[in-house]
Amino acid sequence: MFKVTVCGAAGGIGQPLSLLLKLNEDITDLALYDLVNAPGVAADLSHINTPSKVTSYLGADQLPGALMGANLVIIPAGVPRKPGMTRDDLFKINAGIIRDLATAAATHCPKAFMLIISNPVNSTVPIVAEVFASKGVYDPKRIFGITTLDVVRASRFVTDIKAGSVNPVTTRVPIVGGHSGPTIVPLLSQIQPHQSFTQEEIEALTKRIQYGGDEVVKAKDGAGSATLSMAQAGARFAKAVITAALHGATGIVEPTFVDLDADATNGAAIRAEIQGLQHFALPVELGKDGVERIHSIGSISDYEKQLLSGAVSELKGSIQKGVDFVRASL
Ligand code: NAI
Repeated sequence: MFKVTVCGAAGGIGQPLSLLLKLNEDITDLALYDLVNAPGVAADLSHINTPSKVTSYLGADQLPGALMGANLVIIPAGVPRKPGMTRDDLFKINAGIIRDLATAAATHCPKAFMLIISNPVNSTVPIVAEVFASKGVYDPKRIFGITTLDVVRASRFVTDIKAGSVNPVTTRVPIVGGHSGPTIVPLLSQIQPHQSFTQEEIEALTKRIQYGGDEVVKAKDGAGSATLSMAQAGARFAKAVITAALHGATGIVEPTFVDLDADATNGAAIRAEIQGLQHFALPVELGKDGVERIHSIGSISDYEKQLLSGAVSELKGSIQKGVDFVRASL
């Protein structure tokens, strides 16, 4: 039995994400929660002939039912960006939404894997961590900020400039830091399989990976941000967590924004390299309890060191903002 709950299931990301989760045959129960339209989305998806039973939950009164018994909760609830907005501009609205959903999850499914999509991820993940800690149920191994879209984009964008010589499916660019413009630090020096780039290519690619989300926000012209590519990225990350948890598969590594305390062996050494930050995005090996091992940053170029230092200063404020928000409302 493996129950997955989607909070914000009727939204731009929520609908295609729920569709992709419906196709995941490891999931036995798919609970769709939203303030609007959840029953319609659930009725539609429930006709697809895969094993999961789809149920719907509408409005805050039904949230406990959606969460009860969940093994994994994925949250794309909240408002997306419009042209000219940064992810941080969303904090005012989304911080409260995430705090309330986290409070309910800490009560009704404290052991669930929590996958946070809602922006600003650099602050919403610390919010969830702080809420769980305040309820005495915090396990840093089980709370993840979804940064998968950054590596999905990176693999594709590299292919755009190296047409014919790289495969977007198997090309992996490690990305560290966080999930917003300057905090997104692509490590092109560590791309797998190895590729050589000119400095000009590195700078152009880095910029495009950092601001790829803006391309979509601009093209949608007020109608939101990435939804379809985000749904694919979210479903990929959920599948990785589920496969490692249910089947004991080893060697599954995905990037994610996590609390470095999740890795008792490597976490402290990594923190020492990034001015003691508590949360950071890194490639993470997943296991049956969530985070198994956080990969260290490794050896990086001078250009990447420069980017990293900018990311660290910006992240410090974003993480603290999330923590302060929860502490002020306790
Ligand atoms: P959307 O507006 O299309 O959908 C959001 C859904 O959340 C709506 O159905 C709304 O009714 C629901 N909702 C709002 N408050 C809720 C609450 N308290 N409980 C349950 N549901 C609630 O927005 P979209 O495009 O799906 O984006 C959602 C979030 O994902 C945004 O914050 C966006 O910035 C973020 N995002 C994150 C990415 C990442 O890489 N981590 C990439 C793209 C977007």
